Amino acid sequence: MTAPDALAATRAAYDDAATTYAGLFRDSLRDAPLDRAMLAAFAEAVRGVGRDALVADLGCGPGHVTAHLADLGLVARGVDASPAMIGLARAAHPELRFDVGSMAELDLPDATLSGALSRWSVIHTPPGEIAPVLAEFARVLVPGGHLLIGFWASESPAHRTQVFDHAVAPAYRWCPDHLSALLRATGLAETARLVREPLPTDRRQFRAVHLLARRSDVTT
Ligand SMILES: C[S@@+](CC[C@H](N)C(=O)[O-])C[C@H]1O[C@@H](n2cnc3c(N)ncnc32)[C@H](O)[C@@H]1O
Repeated sequence: MTAPDALAATRAAYDDAATTYAGLFRDSLRDAPLDRAMLAAFAEAVRGVGRDALVADLGCGPGHVTAHLADLGLVARGVDASPAMIGLARAAHPELRFDVGSMAELDLPDATLSGALSRWSVIHTPPGEIAPVLAEFARVLVPGGHLLIGFWASESPAHRTQVFDHAVAPAYRWCPDHLSALLRATGLAETARLVREPLPTDRRQFRAVHLLARRSDVTT
């Protein structure tokens, strides 16, 4: 499948699943204190960049995490490939900006964002497409800007990526060290990682990874 075909398939699948997904996950942060802790640390780091604290939630789904970032004091906006998801996000959070768009080709100038969040959105990026998507994240961050990326861990370092059975669209788990190396190759240096065991409420009984990385060409 070509990259545009894969994106079109993901978009169509999430358009169909948007209402169900929003109902299942709208309150998911409530039962995930370690995820909230990483988001809080990310928000503090982004505020410390010293600009306007502009952050984009890339693959934002129905926008509940975008709203959480706004509650943490960031100027948050969301981008998602699925128009249905963006419609739900706009309806639930009319005070925030949400745009239909692709993570592989963001409609943002270079060095715009103090922070970028990708939370369980690169899970649908095929292994052959991941490097350009990560490079796109680096392109839109200011020097010193921060990326927080969340994904499911593969079983062991022997598995750099593993396809898994996902209810909505084809999906992949990643070896944290491998993803960290791919980030480093784009100029995003890992600053912290959290690897947690699955929660009872997680539909996937995989370890969850949050990697925090910083665009390393800091000028200050
Ligand atoms: C598993 S959901 C995660 C939603 C949200 N980030 C959360 O934490 O609940 C994955 C989302 O990523 C979006 N997505 C997947 N690939 C994308 C891409 N290449 N560009 C933009 N959005 C994408 C999907 O449309 C979907 O809304």
